[in-house]
Amino acid sequence: MNDNLHQLRCIGCGACLKGSEAQPDFRCVACGELFEVEYPGWGQRGGPDRPNYERPNPGALKWLWRERRSSSETVDRSGVWRFRELLPILDSFGDAVTLFEGNTPLYPLTRAAKSLGIDQLYAKHQGMNPSGSFKDTGMTAAMSVARERGFEWVACASTGNTSAAMAAYAARAGLKSLVLIPEGKIAWGKLSQAMDYGSLTCQLKADFDGCLTLLTQIVKEAPIYLLNSVNPYRLEGQKTPAFEIAEAFDWNVPDHLIVPGGNLGNSSALGKGFRELRELGLVARMPRISVVQAEGANPLVRCFREHQATALEPVEAHTRATAIRIGNPASWRKAVRVIQDTGGWCLDVSEAEIAIAKAELGAEGLGCEPASAVTLAGLKKLRAEGKVGSTETVVLLLTGHTLKDADYTIDFHRGTLLKPEETVGLEAEIASLRRNAVAVEATPSAVLAALKGRMG
Ligand code: F0G
Repeated sequence: MNDNLHQLRCIGCGACLKGSEAQPDFRCVACGELFEVEYPGWGQRGGPDRPNYERPNPGALKWLWRERRSSSETVDRSGVWRFRELLPILDSFGDAVTLFEGNTPLYPLTRAAKSLGIDQLYAKHQGMNPSGSFKDTGMTAAMSVARERGFEWVACASTGNTSAAMAAYAARAGLKSLVLIPEGKIAWGKLSQAMDYGSLTCQLKADFDGCLTLLTQIVKEAPIYLLNSVNPYRLEGQKTPAFEIAEAFDWNVPDHLIVPGGNLGNSSALGKGFRELRELGLVARMPRISVVQAEGANPLVRCFREHQATALEPVEAHTRATAIRIGNPASWRKAVRVIQDTGGWCLDVSEAEIAIAKAELGAEGLGCEPASAVTLAGLKKLRAEGKVGSTETVVLLLTGHTLKDADYTIDFHRGTLLKPEETVGLEAEIASLRRNAVAVEATPSAVLAALKGRMG
């Protein structure tokens, strides 16, 4: 870890530390808040200029980053380390633990755009990362720090994707990993990954929030490196999709980015990414960043609605979008700042709205996890409320691959996912999206008859 170029600043009291001085739970000893990585040499927030590190040159960086896309160097082939000038946290970038994450596709969503009456709608599909979720971009960064610092064990509490990513990167790094997950509340695809990549996987009779609290105690007693998104190096990796999005729009950022909200590390990281681009003069403005939660797991929505974004009361979380089944999000203060600084919104959507949006994305050939589909469901609401104009360019951040939670998809198409009381008024819309598999006899006439039924 390179302590010369970065420091950690507490988002609560502003205390600054060297990276190596952070507590095992990454909380400030003075005020209990989380830290953010900052680079004093960039001259941000009036920090002292360091002679050994110059403020990056925007034009040169844009050129360099694009050049690296055709490089065969290991570190250049990562969509995170391609932008390494903006995350100088390692002693040696050559030692980064990478699975060639990032560089994910930005797909136009033409049908959804048409039905919503929006000119430009895109999906940035972070589910197209090596372990199938956006967590890989953060994991390459924090796992590299863990290895440079000489840890043998790493750990996370997870609703599934963090554990899958951590297990994969730990295996690549030659480190051992401990996973704490809520028993029965994570999708099989994700659990199978943690097992396959060799983690010690503990299923606890607790929810995600309980698992994280427990792990916070464990890392204070054992030499284990915590890899949840309270670890500020995770967010350094997770800010890089902001760079990819800006680059894809030729450094004219889209008007609006919509992100799912769980533990709220990702919205915080993307906001940090765009903020740094603006502070360094690579882009002229930031997109609006909105966060969407599930109705049954909406502590941030309540924080805005009931406490003017000044306090967060934990909730007992329930949603079939298990990835975001989180009632006490660690990074809520960071996310509030991002939403407020960018003029975004925080809203929630129902279980039926999530399922419909997921099926609509599927029908465009872009599967995703239920937790990712909250973004489209949220956009529909924002558009209906007149908060998104027809000429705006909107990007939805899809966070996880559709195969992570195939059970959810199958249950939806079989009609067993939602209870009747959840679908009131939406029955016709749901029926038009359902494509259940049909049992057909193995004869041409039977298949032709099935086809005729579909052709109408
Ligand atoms: N989407 C997916 C697919 C996720 O797995 C998560 C979080 C989120 C959205 C929310 O992101 O927490 O940064 O606000 N999953 C974590 C996990 C908590 O353990 O895999 P967030």
